[in-house]
Amino acid sequence: MNTPKIRVGIIGAGFVGSALVQLLSDESRHVALVDAAMAPLEVVGVAVRDPKKVRPGIDTRLITSDALALAKSEGVDVIVELAGGVESARSYVEAALSRGVSVVTANKALMAECGTALAQLANQNGADLFYEAAVGGGVPILRSLRTSLAGERIERVMGIVNGTTNYILSKMTDEGCDYHSALAEAKALGFAEADPTADVEAFDAAQKVQILSSLAFGTELRGELISREGITGVRAVDIDYATRAGYVIKLLGVAERVGEHGISRRAHPTLLPAEHPLASVHGALNAVFVEGAKSGPLMWLGQGAGGEPTATAVLGDLLYVARNKVNGRHDVPFSVDDQLLSVDAGDVASAFYISLDVRDEPGVLASVAGVFGHNDVSIQSMEQSGIADEARLSFLTHCAVTRNVHATMDELSKLESVDCIGACFPVIDGRVS
Ligand code: HSE
Repeated sequence: MNTPKIRVGIIGAGFVGSALVQLLSDESRHVALVDAAMAPLEVVGVAVRDPKKVRPGIDTRLITSDALALAKSEGVDVIVELAGGVESARSYVEAALSRGVSVVTANKALMAECGTALAQLANQNGADLFYEAAVGGGVPILRSLRTSLAGERIERVMGIVNGTTNYILSKMTDEGCDYHSALAEAKALGFAEADPTADVEAFDAAQKVQILSSLAFGTELRGELISREGITGVRAVDIDYATRAGYVIKLLGVAERVGEHGISRRAHPTLLPAEHPLASVHGALNAVFVEGAKSGPLMWLGQGAGGEPTATAVLGDLLYVARNKVNGRHDVPFSVDDQLLSVDAGDVASAFYISLDVRDEPGVLASVAGVFGHNDVSIQSMEQSGIADEARLSFLTHCAVTRNVHATMDELSKLESVDCIGACFPVIDGRVS
């Protein structure tokens, strides 16, 4: 083939970067990769923080510690940004895009924070910006939204987009562990970071929801805060109740239409009917469930993290970008729909699971029920179980406005007879017919 080589600069050689170099240098895949890219690909530089570290499989002559110089180099056609973080990664990506050099990134924080600005920069300079690995690791959901579903009216996207928390909740559900021992095991297995805040407090899931929503609906990526609640408040008793009631508790990222122009985006623990396809997604797997107006329900499932799975998504982007370069074209990263309005989480309606510990005395249930009633929250079912001289009340509500449910919780927390509010999680009735 006489097509000039596509020269690739890789920034970051951790698990994903190293796996990508290996995939690119696999001789048995050489012809297939050249066919897919319509040109040979050549790695011309790998920027790392510590150039002295031994990196098997990476030619030491390619190693540099100057990532910005690599991003600005005239000798690079595509930059693959795998460094992570926002500020420095943004400077590398901007340096490349502003010169018309296409970028592939796996950086969800960068895309959630400044995806709109980067997409504009890419467009202005005729460059591609692809970020498949930013959501769901090796699960090819973003390109599906971007291309296969481009003409579909999507009603809702919801997913298990954080493997660490799905691992923890699965352990709690399947083995009856409490949160802390499940977290300790997730750390020992390398799923959870030493500081697990980004995962367990749902910051990671919230960023992924923002990215999914931008492609599904055309919402902006400007780092705005969306409604988020982590899994640290999920107790073994909540899981036990959910199981008996025919539900599982999952940390779900949800983006959905509300009315004609509203979009609600949120990430929180959710009770999901046990028969829902997402309910059977166990361990550290990720899955995304899309409901289209004409397509009906669709689901993607796979490894949401890990060097090799994530590197396959990066490689797919790289091949696509190379082919675009050979054909002298570029794609629009995503289109913003100016008419969309972000719906406040308080305005969203759903059923709720609520758990309260109360004094076990005459009149307590009546006073608690009264608070639900005058806040316009209708009780669907209630279970009482004894705990010493107290009682645990577990409620499922009918569909209620979240603001009213929170007002109910505020008022209940002030009643002398209520010792604690244990849980207040939405129930998503995503049954597929
Ligand atoms: N920490 C993430 C997870 C993987 O546990 O799913 C990277 O997005």
